[in-house]
Amino acid sequence: MKVILPFFLVIAIVFFIYGGIKFYDAHIILGIIIPYVCFAVAIVGFVARVIKWAISPVPFNITTVCGQQKSLPFIRHSFIESPASRTGVFIRMLFETLFFRSLSRNDRAELYGNERRLIYGRDRYLWLASILFHWSLLIIVLRHLRFFLEPVPHWILFLQDLDSLFQSHLTPFYISNVLISMGILYLFFRRFKKRNYYISLPSDYFILFLIGGIIISGILLRHIYRADLYSVKVFLYGLIYLNPVPFGGFGVMFYIHFCLICILLAYLPYSKLMHMAGVFLSPTRNIRNDSRARRHINPWNYPVKVHSYEEWEKEFKDALKEAGIPQEGGNG
Ligand code: HEM
Ligand code: HEM
Repeated sequence: MKVILPFFLVIAIVFFIYGGIKFYDAHIILGIIIPYVCFAVAIVGFVARVIKWAISPVPFNITTVCGQQKSLPFIRHSFIESPASRTGVFIRMLFETLFFRSLSRNDRAELYGNERRLIYGRDRYLWLASILFHWSLLIIVLRHLRFFLEPVPHWILFLQDLDSLFQSHLTPFYISNVLISMGILYLFFRRFKKRNYYISLPSDYFILFLIGGIIISGILLRHIYRADLYSVKVFLYGLIYLNPVPFGGFGVMFYIHFCLICILLAYLPYSKLMHMAGVFLSPTRNIRNDSRARRHINPWNYPVKVHSYEEWEKEFKDALKEAGIPQEGGNG
């Protein structure tokens, strides 16, 4: 059920868009109202989520590290794995976001044999699939900037040429399209492995179906149901400059692609896809591991009235003296 339901939800959305265009000419709803509503929902959700994270107290230094902490000068410390400086944190974050460094250490733990011995093994497939998926996504989004920019910058055209290095005799296909499809298929099928299936939620599958739908409709749009790219640009400029033109000239595939993206955008801040912002705001990653050199004080601490040992000793001075208990301030 947790796979079938999200699958049919995405199919229902696609049919809704299809029916809207085919039978009701709903260009204004699908081409103007839905994008603006989804954009507003996305902005509100994004800002609210980031503010919530930003105002959450971080009472302790909770950096997660896997290297030697900086301490005495003759002990070599791990500059990136256990960063004690802001530069170290920046470099670690760079490796984390660009190359998913911590995910590359993903290990597999299995119980083997009749005696069910726990064996750890290397498992780099998740890392590889994630890298393929995210880098291809980035390249696709950067290539899409040609719909938003006029004149189209040279670097986007260069990226496009590089991505379509393997020309077919008809429309050149993009390498990123093949790689993103492979990446998302792995991310999808790994959720059927026994233990992963157990912990997977319907929302995990929904996101994968939604992104899968965007990729399939995009590829169909490029290779089969072609859209006039000039009209796409005019349509997007209309939306951006708040002067929308309800365009009747697009086929239904364009609306499917476009509306699925709007839904993804609106759902994004309320889903686990917020990991794109969360990774930067995660205290386990963005705090320096310098607790031996600097006291980490909770910035949200409020003044607390304390009863110090000295005060306590003063208060019970006579009783302590009578009992013969030595006092720090002297028994006199
Ligand atoms: C700074 C940007 C980002 C970073 C560093 C990042 C990092 C990661 C990592 C490390 C994983 C693997 C997690 C795991 O399964 O253990 C992952 C999964 C994923 N990310 Fe991202 N991500 C970023 C942006 C995005 C964006 C913009 C999207 C799409 C809108 C996205 C969609 C996904 C999806 C669909 C998965 C797979 C979830 C699943 O396993 O079902 N990510 N990301
Ligand atoms: C407002 C946003 C977007 C618009 C208007 C749009 C529109 C289009 C159009 C017109 C095409 C056909 C391109 C061609 O014929 O060369 C296309 C292709 C495609 N789109 Fe989008 N798209 C948008 C966002 C996205 C996003 C966020 C993704 C990623 C998940 C995506 C994934 C794809 C893919 C995989 C293709 C196949 C061909 C290619 O890579 O260029 N699109 N899109």
